[in-house]
Amino acid sequence: MGLSMTTPVLTLQDAALSLDGNAGRVDILHNISLTVQQGETLGLIGPSGSGKSSLLMLMGGLEQASQGRVHALGHDLTGMDEDALARFRRDAMGVVFQNFHLIPTMTALENVATPLELAGHRDAFERAGAELEAVGLSHRRDHYPAQLSGGEQQRVALARASAPRPQLLLADEPTGNLDETNGAAIIDLLFGLRDRHGATLVLVTHSHTLAQKCDRVVRLRDGRIAEDNRREAAE
Ligand SMILES: Nc1ncnc2c1ncn2[C@@H]1O[C@H](COP(=O)(O)OP(=O)(O)OP(=O)(O)O)[C@@H](O)[C@H]1O
Ligand SMILES: [Mg+2]
Repeated sequence: MGLSMTTPVLTLQDAALSLDGNAGRVDILHNISLTVQQGETLGLIGPSGSGKSSLLMLMGGLEQASQGRVHALGHDLTGMDEDALARFRRDAMGVVFQNFHLIPTMTALENVATPLELAGHRDAFERAGAELEAVGLSHRRDHYPAQLSGGEQQRVALARASAPRPQLLLADEPTGNLDETNGAAIIDLLFGLRDRHGATLVLVTHSHTLAQKCDRVVRLRDGRIAEDNRREAAE
């Protein structure tokens, strides 16, 4: 991998996130500085409420930094307008949210095929079928999200995010609702994106098994980076 390992895909410089809500202003993330290299796999860990999902949103341009800067895949996300951000995400990024965000009026197959169609793939439905097969859901392709279990919805969301082969995949608890067998299949799928397509992965996880597979583990505490450990290239 040599050269490619030194290309930054994601850079946060002193980024902060504060949100205004009915209960007033909440400071969620503070002084986040982080560079993720191409092909790197980063595990984001930390207690509930420490800011993991919020940091993922910042990385994906789904929330704007209140301070500091966020660059992803050569774009400065700070100050980019909504349309440009949506196009950028569609073309280069896969995001799996903690609550999946599947489109309720579309079947599993349609959910996976839609971003492929938007990206101009003529064989979108064929590819979507293959992606669903890869996550073990061929038999559920014509089901609507409400007819799927939590773990099944999660696998559809992963298939949808990985189908366009994004350069950067951000996933919130990708194995959170899964049994061991399905969890292992998802881990294979994620790391296959890295191995076969050079994708960069940022994975929020409470799973020790998944975190251990990552090149680097960042631990958040109270909205700050408490630890940032790169694993020695052992094998
Ligand atoms: N829209 C919002 N408005 C105000 N506060 C928010 C908002 N979203 C999140 N928070 C707060 O920000 C903090 C971080 O939330 P976040 O969802 O990022 O945590 P997390 O590390 O992903 O937790 P979990 O492991 O439970 O998913 C929490 O204290 C939460 O209550
Ligand atoms: Mg979360």
